[in-house]
Amino acid sequence: MTPKITVIGTGYLGATHAAAMAELGFEVLGLDVLPEKIERLSQGHSPMYEPGLDDLLQRHVAGLPGSSGRLSFTTSYADAAAFGDVHFICVNTPQRPGEYACDMSYVDAAVDSLAPHLTRPALVVGKSTVPVGSAARLAARLAELAPAGEDAELAWNPEFLREGFAVQDTLHPDRIVVGVTSEGAETLLRELYATPIAEGSPFLTTDMPTAELVKTAANAFLSTKISFINAMAEVCEAAGGDVVRLAEALGHDERIGRKYLRPGIGFGGGCLPKDIRAFMARAGELGAAEALSFLREIDAINMRRRVLMVELTRETVGGSLLGKRVAVLGAAFKPDSDDVRDSPALNIAGQLHLQGAEVTVYDPKAMRNAQAVFPTLRYAATALDAAQGAHAVLHLTEWREFRDLDPAALGDAVTTRHILDGRNTLDPAVWRKADWTYRALGRPTA
Ligand code: UDX
Repeated sequence: MTPKITVIGTGYLGATHAAAMAELGFEVLGLDVLPEKIERLSQGHSPMYEPGLDDLLQRHVAGLPGSSGRLSFTTSYADAAAFGDVHFICVNTPQRPGEYACDMSYVDAAVDSLAPHLTRPALVVGKSTVPVGSAARLAARLAELAPAGEDAELAWNPEFLREGFAVQDTLHPDRIVVGVTSEGAETLLRELYATPIAEGSPFLTTDMPTAELVKTAANAFLSTKISFINAMAEVCEAAGGDVVRLAEALGHDERIGRKYLRPGIGFGGGCLPKDIRAFMARAGELGAAEALSFLREIDAINMRRRVLMVELTRETVGGSLLGKRVAVLGAAFKPDSDDVRDSPALNIAGQLHLQGAEVTVYDPKAMRNAQAVFPTLRYAATALDAAQGAHAVLHLTEWREFRDLDPAALGDAVTTRHILDGRNTLDPAVWRKADWTYRALGRPTA
């Protein structure tokens, strides 16, 4: 019989995973403890902006016209346990306030809430990003709390989706990694992922700690690549080089590759920053702190980008930010997302504001989330509105619509034509031709 699936936690990871499993043909029940999220999802609306996700939900959410009806939602753990043969845990593991370590309370609560209802054999599959060693601890907890005892088994199956590409990454993963302790669990997971496996996604079976580590190691590597090129930007700045040309030239070396080598104001979001910190904290607990001490430097290089961008802005507007009008284009931590968690763009906007500038922000999708975090900034309905009277325009999230801006029209709106490109995706020649000064970190001024 085809296994039935539950997905616990319906954020970026869980909502996408639930919809994707329904798309792959399974009956899916999504669970969240927030009733308002469940209500939105039950109407076929994603709780966040993620390209393609609403379409997928509309195609499968039960009760919607023309849907497959394979996807429903609940807030009840008893319902989830009764429904599912496989339970995916997709709750978040944020950074603990004032600490590097991650907060495991949502994962622990999910296992503690589900386990007492597991009266028949079930496979619980962790997808959340957790400190290595968590899976072993949770497996023991599960066996202890579940009436089914050892028949309630745990596996670990990290998720590598990128926001903005979540649907694509979930349906067509570049690899499927599963940490398992039995052949039965591996067989079941192969069955669930049969479609992507048939399409060629590599399927790797490991022990639990390795599966947990694949995720944190991948994010540590990606962060390192970004901070590496941003460190080169600092050297270029000092030496008069051009980091964009440098990155391009480095990227042609196949051993290096050009991906994650885009210099700018650095990485943010709900994953990379907190994951490298949690990784350092965990290594410390394991007595391996020295092995990851370089990540402290990666983090420092990254956080310095934001300060350097504020300094470049100060210098551009004549040495003092007091009373200067600054337009900030972009608030999300990356384009095609409305996520402002640890967003470099919003962080820079906030710093400029706190240092006396009058900051007006525009973002195509993240306005509501940005306003909730930073209500004291001004917000405009369009890029052109944000630029009215500005002494400098900062391009901080590389949305497509910003590349399509007309420098002449924007030039008529501003007080002085200074454009600062924090993402290195605007064409300096085009802006300079329209009489703007174009500045970017680690690139020549003209
Ligand atoms: C990341 C990982 O890519 C994903 O595999 C993991 O599952 C979760 O964390 P995500 O947080 O969606 O995904 O963002 P990503 O696309 O990796 O970008 C992270 C940050 O790095 C963004 O702020 C982006 O602007 C920045 N970045 C990325 C750069 O500054 N330069 C680059 O070259 C690439």
